[in-house]
Amino acid sequence: MAMVTTGSDDAALPLAIPVLAGRQWGPGADLTSHDPDALAEYLDQADFQGELGQVVALPGARTVYLVGVGEEVDLEALRKAAGSLAAASKRAGRVSTTLHHLAVDGAEGAVAEGFVLGSYSFDRYRSDPGEAPPEPGLHLIADQGSAEAADLSVASAVANAVNRARDLVNTPASDKGPEAIAKSIQAFADRPDVRFEMWTGEEVIEAGFGGLAGVNAGSARPATMLRVTYRPDGATRKLAMVGKGIVFDSGGLTLKPYESMKSMKTDMAGAAAVLAAFEAIVELAIPIEVIAITPLTENLPSGTAVKPGDVLTARNGKTMEVLNTDAEGRLVLADGLSLAAESDPDLIVDLATLTGACVVALGRKIAGLFAPDDEAAQLVEAAAARAGERVWRLPLPEDYRPDLDSEVADMKNVAGHRYGGAIHAALFLKEFVGDRAWAHLDIAGPSWPEDTGFYQGKGASGFGVRTLVQIARDLAHAESSILSAHSE
Ligand code: BES
Ligand code: MN
Ligand code: ZN
Repeated sequence: MAMVTTGSDDAALPLAIPVLAGRQWGPGADLTSHDPDALAEYLDQADFQGELGQVVALPGARTVYLVGVGEEVDLEALRKAAGSLAAASKRAGRVSTTLHHLAVDGAEGAVAEGFVLGSYSFDRYRSDPGEAPPEPGLHLIADQGSAEAADLSVASAVANAVNRARDLVNTPASDKGPEAIAKSIQAFADRPDVRFEMWTGEEVIEAGFGGLAGVNAGSARPATMLRVTYRPDGATRKLAMVGKGIVFDSGGLTLKPYESMKSMKTDMAGAAAVLAAFEAIVELAIPIEVIAITPLTENLPSGTAVKPGDVLTARNGKTMEVLNTDAEGRLVLADGLSLAAESDPDLIVDLATLTGACVVALGRKIAGLFAPDDEAAQLVEAAAARAGERVWRLPLPEDYRPDLDSEVADMKNVAGHRYGGAIHAALFLKEFVGDRAWAHLDIAGPSWPEDTGFYQGKGASGFGVRTLVQIARDLAHAESSILSAHSE
């Protein structure tokens, strides 16, 4: 776990300083001990111009990392630059820096966050970890007392939560059974202001979670519905977060081809984000009631698996005809969202690796955002932008809903044609939120971005954690008018 500290400079540590595009030295760059001509030649050789994410190490009595921050420095540029520094300085352990001295509001937090995210790696499955590198750490050189301790603790709590979500998603499916995931948060939940509840096996059926039970029918490992609730003193707002927790999605009897199946241990990225965000919110004592709900199961074919044509009944009583067993996320979320709506939250946000169609529409870096009302959509858009995660709103056209009409049940789980697949999935979910304000994030693309660089290494991104924590912070401090139409 990368540590972030602040204080006066520690000359025993390497020093990392920002450089703007065109090799303009940023704050803290004291290179008087370097011969200017030799330095210029060295940087020419390294083709270092100060472009965002370029990092070059200058050897000397004290190693100096020059960290490119590019042309226009904003919060995201600082996160990216700090992430690149973390990757480039892996062997150095702790590094002292002035990156946050660039005049951007919230710079300390962004630099800390980018560094902790960029330090992440997932090595626990290697038999020979090699020579263990020193613990990474970032020391922010105090700048006229500007480093806000509070900003730093938020940033490092959030970034460490993102890394925990990454760990969960990167873990092989066979090593993260539904119960094991639920229990991973149980110890954390052992405190008076947090309530831990789980339904497993028969209890899932008894509680009426028919979508979850149906998807689980082919699996040897029982399903689990998990609900954890944080109720701090004096909270006036209530946020419900629901995460799709398909530990492995083979498609079920509607089996996926190998190419699509091989990455499906990631199909619980929504649940991972929700649980990690929950922990960060509690750790930071954000004054808002938060309910985290994750339906957890695998989706596997077997002699007992749910079959095309079967009808399942969700927790809210609605019936769902399963025409494609690979559209399983919406079936388990039907129960998760119904459960969320029961506690009358001000806002429900769900995160789900729901559709390949959303990846086709928006690619691997942007999540699809669906929300019937503009206020909820804007709240999520603003939080995501602030947090540095990319979302794009897509429509929920009512006249697409008849595509989900079933000949035998209240709805069928697929439209029967592949056009607008992300929209049909979202329209399906909408049937389960009642009259609550609700936003749905389809994170099938950005949960596993493929592209690496800056603060994203190989594998899972932990997408959604940062946005969820920001939503909780914004809602906790929102004026009473926000979402008022729904909270009456
Ligand atoms: N888990 C998948 C969606 C997915 C695809 C996640 C790619 C991550 C990357 C989901 O359960 C699924 O299989 N969706 C189907 C829906 C279809 C059957 C209507 C899909 O997208 O093909
Ligand atoms: Mn599926
Ligand atoms: Zn799935």
